Order: sequence, then structure tokens, then C-alpha cells
Amino acid sequence: MTNPTSNGLEGVVVADTAISEVDGERGHLVIAGADVERLAVATTFEQAVTSVLVAGGARISAPALGAARAAAWELVPRLGDALALPEAMDALRTALGHVRPTGDDLVDAIAAIGAAPVFVAAWGRTRAGAAPIAPDPALSHAADYLRMSTGASPTPDATKALDAYLVTVIDHGMSASTFTARVITSTGSDLISAMVGGVGALKGPLHGGAPGPVLDMLDAIGTPANAEPWILAELAAGRRIMGMGHRIYRVRDPRAAVLETAVRPLASRRLEMARAVETAASKILRERKPDRPLAANVEFYTAVLLDAVGLPREQFSATFAVSRIAGWSAHVIEQRRTGRLIRPASRYVGATPA
Ligand code: COA
Repeated sequence: MTNPTSNGLEGVVVADTAISEVDGERGHLVIAGADVERLAVATTFEQAVTSVLVAGGARISAPALGAARAAAWELVPRLGDALALPEAMDALRTALGHVRPTGDDLVDAIAAIGAAPVFVAAWGRTRAGAAPIAPDPALSHAADYLRMSTGASPTPDATKALDAYLVTVIDHGMSASTFTARVITSTGSDLISAMVGGVGALKGPLHGGAPGPVLDMLDAIGTPANAEPWILAELAAGRRIMGMGHRIYRVRDPRAAVLETAVRPLASRRLEMARAVETAASKILRERKPDRPLAANVEFYTAVLLDAVGLPREQFSATFAVSRIAGWSAHVIEQRRTGRLIRPASRYVGATPA
């Protein structure tokens, strides 16, 4: 008998990977052989991109992301209506479809990783009624993305915090979007198609779509004293608390602590609010669901950090994609080496022929 709350895929191993490992019981995340806590403070996004691509099997010493951003900028006038779409994730999905696959995964990976921040920032500027800003290939990926998004030179603290964020979320085991990218690759399709599919999977609120709603929640709660009654009312209305709970973690998501630390130098008032709301939500959910630990996930402090560095909340999920596109790329390269089609089975529960 199938468990009605399960889709039968929980815990099924679909690939061997050297890119990252998630230990949900102990709350550990290892990316390319390093603990996420160490990686976030000791590594730039560019270095993390190299690490995950090499772990996936690519031969690369330093990715030319500045040149890739400049190449993507040439595409911006030719993206059709992509930048006019109302949601950043739809714009990114459509814009990425304009990157021409070359058939060389590493070349396509660098093109896609370079293109994502250019397209997302151009979408944000267009949405705000301003002209998109050209990339500066001499800047770091984090600094350039912030500059293209906000129109101002970012502070060192903001750049550092965003860099830590991009490193922290670069890969996370066999997430739904990573699985999507690997399935697409396994058919023999190209890396750009896998990235487009990854964006589609990441968009949903059960995966990467939660940080905007987390910020909406913090705004709606307003004061720490209002946290408990607000959360109780939300649960009574049958809604979930955004930024809480995880399919794999049975303890607090280790990335929540990393991001909470990374945002501290920006001294956001929201950080205090977020802590109060997390405390209240954890307590209430523990009382409600003593058998199902529901703690803060990565999206909770993502919302606080991305807000503190000055990104609009409409770009939050797409900013997740700006980083994760590197992890997906590494998985595409690793999957390609297996040469094996991923073809799961379904259980037929329909009518029997008469
Ligand atoms: N708030 C309130 N209740 C929650 C909850 C949340 N954030 N997350 C899970 N629950 C409850 C479910 O309603 C369910 O209760 P039930 O057994 O009475 O139906 C129980 O906990 C188990 O949930 P389940 O749906 O089996 O967990 P899951 O592994 O499928 O869900 C998430 C994982 C992330 C999809 C889920 O925790 C969620 O929706 N969180 C909010 C969205 C979010 O933060 N997404 C970003 C993920 S990184």
C-alpha cells in the first residue's frame, strides 16, 4: 500500500554525486568536499563555481564569468518580451532560452552562469521603468549583480554578504530542480535546456519561491509581539509558515545559520524581527507537530539577507537561480559522464480494459 503523503521517491538514490551531500538528520551540508560553514567565509562565488564544476568532472581552473556577463549583455536587446514578463523567474527562464547551446557543456555552463545575473538585473531595471545597466567584467560576480540591479556601487559589506549567499546556496544534493536538470541531461539534451528546466522547477514556493513570501510575512507581523498571534491565525487558516520546514532536514537547516551570520554586519532591523518570528514559529510548530521537526530553512534568512543588500523582493527567487545555475551545471556535466537515461516508473491505478 502506498503512503498517501509520499510520492514514492523519498530517499530513492537516483545518482552518485561528488558535488554535494546533505545530512538531514545532523544538519550538515558538504559542498565539493568542504563544510558549507567554512566555504561561505573562505570562498568567493567564482572559487565555489570552480569547485562544483571540477567536482562534477569539468577541467577548469578559473571561470571567466566577467566575459560571460559581457557576452550575455549583447543578447539583452534581443530577448523579445522576456524582460516584460511580470515574474523574474519567468523572465529568466525565457531569456536563458536565447542562449545558444554549443554542444560543449563547460562552454555552455559558463555562458549560462554569466547570463543569469545580467538577465535578472535587466528584468528588475525594466520593471522599475529604468534602463538596464551593462555589466562590468572587472567586478566580482556578486558586486556586478548588485550594481546592475540597484544602479549604485555596492558597499563592501553588501558585496561580501551577497557573495556568502551565492556560495551557500550553490548546490544542495538532489533537490527537485537539480533532479529536473539531470533528467533533461540524461535524455542527451543540451545544458541550456537543463537550465531552463531547472528554473521552472525552482520557481515553485515549495522549493525556491519562499523568500519573497517570508519578507511579506515579516512585514505583515510588524512587531515581535505580534509574531505568535499572527502565526496561530495563519495556521488556523490552513496555511504554512514560509521559511519553515524542509523535506530533508530534521533539524535547523545549516544554511540558515550561515546566512544569519553573513547578514549580521549589515545590522538589519529585520534580522531582530526574523529571529523573534523564527523563535515563535519554532515553538508553535513544535507544539503542533511534536513528531515532525519543523525548523527554519534556508529561505528564512535568505529573505533577510537579500533585502539587507538592497535587492527587491521580486528578484529573490531569481537570485537563488543566479547561484544554483552553477550547481545545476556541475550536475549536468556529472550526469553526462554516466551516459544513462533516467527513466523512473509509475504505478498504474487507472481503469482496466474491459
Ligand atoms: N508550516 C506549517 N506546517 C508545515 C510546514 C510549515 N512551513 N511545513 C510542513 N508542515 C506540516 C504539513 O502541513 C504536514 O502536516 P500534516 O501531516 O498535518 O498534513 C507536516 O508538517 C508534514 O509536512 P510535509 O508536507 O510532509 O513536509 P514536506 O517534506 O513535504 O514539506 C516543505 C517540505 C519545505 C515543502 C514544507 O515544509 C513547506 O511547505 N514549507 C514552507 C515553504 C518553504 O519554506 N519552502 C522553502 C523550502 S527550502
